[in-house]
Amino acid sequence: MNTTSFNPETYQAAPNLLKDKVILITGAGAGIGRTAAITYAQHGATVILLGKTTKKLEAVYDEIVKAKGPTPAIYPLDLMGASPQDYQDMVALLSKEFGRLDGLLNNVGILGVLSPIENQDVQIWHKVLQINVNATFMLTQACLPLLKSAEHASIIFTSSGVGKTGRAYWGAYAVSKFATEGLMQVLADELETNTKVRSNCINPGATRTSMRAAAYPAEDPMTLKTAEEIMPVYLYLMGADSLLVNGDSLNAQ
Ligand SMILES: NC(=O)c1ccc[n+]([C@@H]2O[C@H](COP(=O)([O-])OP(=O)(O)OC[C@H]3O[C@@H](n4cnc5c(N)ncnc54)[C@H](OP(=O)(O)O)[C@@H]3O)[C@@H](O)[C@H]2O)c1
Repeated sequence: MNTTSFNPETYQAAPNLLKDKVILITGAGAGIGRTAAITYAQHGATVILLGKTTKKLEAVYDEIVKAKGPTPAIYPLDLMGASPQDYQDMVALLSKEFGRLDGLLNNVGILGVLSPIENQDVQIWHKVLQINVNATFMLTQACLPLLKSAEHASIIFTSSGVGKTGRAYWGAYAVSKFATEGLMQVLADELETNTKVRSNCINPGATRTSMRAAAYPAEDPMTLKTAEEIMPVYLYLMGADSLLVNGDSLNAQ
């Protein structure tokens, strides 16, 4: 494990930080994932946009092409029902089209319903764990051989403040984020020897997206940081400035 004293206020990413890199982003159609995809493309990466709603992915694709970024790719996939074979099929296609993968941003997450543990709906509990933990695990597992074939590769998981200290009513979502931190750490320890792949977490902090609005409906969104404002840590962990960082969990704010 190798931690860092990264400072989101002072970090400046080089304009060509991700030139010629191939990066897969989950949940790329909206929120933080959408902004990360556009930001990575602005820094030279060919991004693979994975998400549930094709129309949203197409809009991100168009935005990147319009800005003259490297031509992205779209991979519509509903992580709720995806099987291990679906992930293998995706990786086989990526391998055929690109020959390698330099980065994986595991960004998809769902909130479920906030309520006391006593009242947590069991079906919703399973759904949250299926997307936030099981799908993330299966996708990461399938991508590992391709990531290992890159010169250096970065895997980023998405955590949360409630994945570090439990908080009343955050139920399945909080438990899924504790599991995400655990998955990241176990993988980082495994990757420490004989690989050039690193595994780290980002806690975005309160960010102006539809998920945040669902969790805090009475909050004024204008008081929150935008997804654009939290991008420094997404760039830092994806690019070569963090080559020695493995097993760390960084706050975006
Ligand atoms: N926003 C915050 O304040 C905050 C704070 C801490 C942590 N986080 C974490 O940051 C990550 C991104 O959050 P966000 O606020 O950007 O969320 P968001 O606005 O709700 O966006 C989530 C993205 O995930 C996609 N997605 C949802 N279910 C999916 C499925 N079954 N299959 C494929 N894609 C699916 C959505 O696609 P569709 O739009 O097509 O449904 C959307 O693009 C999450 O892991 C979240 O837990 C966010």
